[in-house]
Amino acid sequence: MSVVALVPAAGRGERLGAGVPKALVSVRGEPLLVHAVRGLLAAGCVHSVVVAAPVSDVDTMTRVLAFAGSHARVVPGGSSRTQSVRLALGAAPPDTTVVLVHDAARAFTPAELVKAVVARVDGGADAVIPVLPVADTIKRVDAAGRVAATPDRADLRVVQTPQGFRAEVLRRAYDAYPDATTDDAGLVERLGVPVDTIPGHPYAMKITTPFDLAVAEAILR
Ligand code: CTP
Ligand code: MG
Repeated sequence: MSVVALVPAAGRGERLGAGVPKALVSVRGEPLLVHAVRGLLAAGCVHSVVVAAPVSDVDTMTRVLAFAGSHARVVPGGSSRTQSVRLALGAAPPDTTVVLVHDAARAFTPAELVKAVVARVDGGADAVIPVLPVADTIKRVDAAGRVAATPDRADLRVVQTPQGFRAEVLRRAYDAYPDATTDDAGLVERLGVPVDTIPGHPYAMKITTPFDLAVAEAILR
């Protein structure tokens, strides 16, 4: 088994509004990207990572990941997360058997979750995603902002990363569908391949807003 983690880190971080790409925002003296990559490698089952960086920050991200030596590679990302993952996937070694896709913005994901995703694919799953129950009621609303429907919350899940795939399955999905998606499993679903779920973890939260950053800082204290 050869496990490679793709780390989309090429976003601008508009909602965080730090003035630098989100993956380069420091928490406890180190960029989110460093926390994320270190966490993946510390799980012990990920052999290497391919990071998709903003084109203007490939050199900076390469430098901050020097600690990982040959275990980390940085490639220029794309204009959407999907494009960034596609470019990173293209840079994964051909003999890769298991691919994880993990947002740099989920920088404090516990090693146990990474291990659980890899173990599930190693155990025969084509695709696996970590999920959490939905705490709030979710409404579907129309363009005018009026409620159109209330889906049963019991059937809904919040989706996290790392998402894990048999490499051949993820490559097939990215070859088949050129359009953008918010999660990689969405493309695999369209192939008709079953996607398994495992319990996610609150610490695998995506840092999107200044509030999320404050929560992450509090977790680390
Ligand atoms: N991402 C990427 N390439 C893009 C856009 C996003 O690699 N063109 C990555 C981000 O760097 C992040 C992950 O996808 O690690 C999830 O995206 P998101 O949380 O939306 O991050 P940003 O796009 O940076 O934030 P925003 O949407 O607020 O600008
Ligand atoms: Mg974004």
